[in-house]
This record gives sequence, C-alpha cells and structure tokens, in this order.
Amino acid sequence: MTTLVAENIVTGYSKQEIVHGVSLTAEAGKITCIFGPNGCGKSTLLKAIAGALPMWSGSASLNGTTLSNLPVHDVVRQGLVLMPQGGGVFPRLTVMENLRMGGYTLADPQLVESRIEALIDQYPFLARRRRTAAGSLSGGEQAMLSLARTLVSEPRFVLLDEPSAGLSPAMVIETLERITGLTAQGIGILMVEQNIREAMPLADKLYILAAGEKRFEGTPSDVRDDRQIMDIYMGGA
Ligand SMILES: Nc1ncnc2c1ncn2[C@@H]1O[C@H](COP(=O)(O)OP(=O)(O)OP(=O)(O)O)[C@@H](O)[C@H]1O
Ligand SMILES: [Mg+2]
Repeated sequence: MTTLVAENIVTGYSKQEIVHGVSLTAEAGKITCIFGPNGCGKSTLLKAIAGALPMWSGSASLNGTTLSNLPVHDVVRQGLVLMPQGGGVFPRLTVMENLRMGGYTLADPQLVESRIEALIDQYPFLARRRRTAAGSLSGGEQAMLSLARTLVSEPRFVLLDEPSAGLSPAMVIETLERITGLTAQGIGILMVEQNIREAMPLADKLYILAAGEKRFEGTPSDVRDDRQIMDIYMGGA
C-alpha cells in the first residue's frame, strides 16, 4: 500500500511564511480531502508536497521514500503528480501535445504514445479532438484534459487542486466520479475542494486548514454539521 506522509510542513513565498507546520497522511486507493477558506494555504501546501515550491522545514514521503525538496520531475518519477489549480493546460498546444507533456519524465516516446492511447479511450471527446488547440475546448473538457495529462506518468498518488472548480453541476459530478474511479485502480488521491457538499460524501478522510494551520482532521462522519465546518473556517474550533 502506498502512503503519503507529510510532517510538519512549513513553507511560504520569499520571507512570508504561509503554511505553519502541517502534517497529514493519505492512503492509496482512498480520497483524502483538504478544505479551507480562500487564501489559507491549501495550494501552497500541495505545491510543497509535489516539489513545486521549496519546503522550509518538515518532510514529505511516499511509502517511506523521501520527496522533500526533490525537483518536480524526480517527485513524478517517485509516482506523485500534482494537477495544479486551474488545470494548467497549455491553451495553444493541441490536446495530444498537452498529453505528451504529462509523459515528460519518461525517456521512451513510444511508451508515452502507448500510454496516451490507452488513456484516451476513456476520454472519447479528447480522442476526437487530438489536434484541437486545448484553449478551444470547453472548461469541462479542459478539466478532463488536465486530469488525463496527470495520469500519463501512471502515478501512484495524485494531488488535485480544486479539480471541479468552475464546472457546471453535471461536470462537477462527472469529474468527481472519474476521480473516484482512480481509487478503484489503487491510486491515492489528495484533493483540495471548494465543492464541499459534493466532495464530502466521497472523502475517506478530511482535513480542514485555516490560516496555514490544520484545524480539523477526521472522517466525514466525525463532522457534526455544516455549522461546525463554518465555525472552523471562521477561526473557531
Ligand atoms: N506565488 C505567490 N507569491 C506570493 N504569495 C503567494 C503566492 N501564491 C499564493 N500566495 C499567497 O499565499 C497565501 C496562500 O495562498 P494559497 O494559494 O496557498 O491559498 P489557497 O488556500 O489555495 O486559496 P484558494 O482557495 O483561493 O485557492 C495567500 O495569501 C496568497 O496571496
Ligand atoms: Mg488554492
């Protein structure tokens, strides 16, 4: 089983500390959610775990192998990939070119192509638009493209930063269903979400951050009611 462990992560930008010593654990084949108000450091935490932002102190490991301060491509080789907030698709590149970016750590271009072909079958609308510029896809299709790109390296663990943000209600459900499908393949998911109502029923475990600190850790059944979450968001207990 693959376990992602983050311990006492401290990080920020230039001299400003944003994340003040957060620890968490996420399991393979499970969905672990991070909720919290805007600007509380959720994306900053994910970036630090994924190697996209230096950790000031603390550590992250996958199955006991340290990830702390490895460059992003080495973190990807260890099996952990971040889908950044907003998806990060390259609008002027085609669907295929975007997908190939997901395989940039693989030395063998044939392998990248065969992985993409295997993957694209599950995304028929991408298969039909291989040579279309990603920027001309709908928001929902771009979200699917960024999810598919994340999978080209065949990660054991994916960090998803608001995968359903800005999508229509139907696309929110489709996106979350696809994410749940990944856990059936044993992939571990650590996901930041604002659509709490939709994401909570899928979560095996959840964390709530506020002001760069962990304020709650538990299972959805440990949450008494919406009021309790709002209180944590507003700085209460
Ligand atoms: N590249 C950056 N340089 C400087 N400060 C940043 C940078 N990115 C984020 N910040 C600041 O760090 C703090 C935390 O931002 P972060 O993006 O981690 O929050 P978040 O919880 O993901 O918010 P949201 O829910 O809006 O996505 C904010 O005050 C933000 O302004
Ligand atoms: Mg964010």
